[in-house]
Amino acid sequence: MLNHRLINPPREPEKFVKAAITFLQKHAKDKKVFCALSGGIDSSATYLLLKEANINTIPVFIDHGLMRIIRGVEEREDIKKLFPEVMVVDIRDKFLPKIFGEEDAEVKRKLFKDAYSDTISKVIKEEKCDLLSDGTILPDIEESFGVKISDLKETMSLKEEISLKNKNIRGFVKSQHNLDIEYEVEATVQPVASLTKPEVRKVLEYFKMPNELVYRKAFPGPALSARIIGPVTSENLKFEKKVHDIVESTVNDYYTEKFGKPMIINDKGEQEPFQAFAATTTDVLLREVTGMINGQRTYEVPLSIKGEWDFEKLVHFSSQIKGYARILYELYESHEGIYDVIIRSINSIDARTASVTNLPIDLIEEIKYKLLEFPDTKNIYFDITPKPPATIEYV
Ligand code: XMP
Repeated sequence: MLNHRLINPPREPEKFVKAAITFLQKHAKDKKVFCALSGGIDSSATYLLLKEANINTIPVFIDHGLMRIIRGVEEREDIKKLFPEVMVVDIRDKFLPKIFGEEDAEVKRKLFKDAYSDTISKVIKEEKCDLLSDGTILPDIEESFGVKISDLKETMSLKEEISLKNKNIRGFVKSQHNLDIEYEVEATVQPVASLTKPEVRKVLEYFKMPNELVYRKAFPGPALSARIIGPVTSENLKFEKKVHDIVESTVNDYYTEKFGKPMIINDKGEQEPFQAFAATTTDVLLREVTGMINGQRTYEVPLSIKGEWDFEKLVHFSSQIKGYARILYELYESHEGIYDVIIRSINSIDARTASVTNLPIDLIEEIKYKLLEFPDTKNIYFDITPKPPATIEYV
């Protein structure tokens, strides 16, 4: 299998789109292309470029049951508002029984990886696709290969890439990058491989996509299982979906009201907020959650603190503390209810590091009261830990 990537294109959106069309026509003209849409910005931009280049494309959205709810609408329905022609492949009945009860973060990741690759392979075969196009972007590549994108060639074989990757591995490489999966296609085409997330957003703006998509918050491959700490069950999944939607949409509304859009680039160049979500579990203070110390993933119980709200002091404290990778500020303590809810909102340039979003305490309190409308809510925390020492997600 070969990989074709658009390397070093012009950055200005109009010129970029022209270069991407030329690239796609060079590699995919008269071919049938499979394109997985995840609901996120990278795959949406990839699909729009394929359409713009008039490539025969099969857009596919896989619903395994752990995708988010966006303002009360399941993502598989939400994506149809943007792309009515998308083929939704529903694997919920097959996938959910496999993940229910699974606790181990890496096993959870592997289950998703296998479910995606099996489903993609099946559709590629059924639809007789020649190529696969995906929304791999610059930080994905640089993290996986440990090289600069300009050191790669436009066309490389998978074998060449694996040896390059093995030569360059240094430090922490995430298991989540699926660059080593081989599909039964002639090649992959990756038109946005040289772009950063803000550049992808500019392409979506160029295509006049709604703000709701242009500024959509990044969402991990293992979906809500990255935010349900411990085993996923059908009950905690229902709860997580509801509270997640509340946190994300309330933060989006606040930014939209204040800045006219749900995300800004702040004076540190970060996308603010890059991600805003709820993590849920029973008894979070007894759970080992992920952290990142000296570039290595660690699993530690979090520390809870309470007292006067002083954002600067609290965040400074949590970045200095030794022996813990995650500090939670207690917003509400209860002996009733079932699930602890952790509100997490972070700003980031490329997800390799992250700072805590300085949300006004009134907004955090508003979210808290909305969460308390669910009888299953128990304790509520606000995660005040930057990355490092925490990770963004909880697995
Ligand atoms: P962490 O939690 O490692 O997350 O600080 C960094 C960025 O990666 C996303 N993330 C994942 N994405 N598969 C993915 O496709 C994964 O297993 C995974 N884990 C984390 C996370 O949402 C954040 O943007």
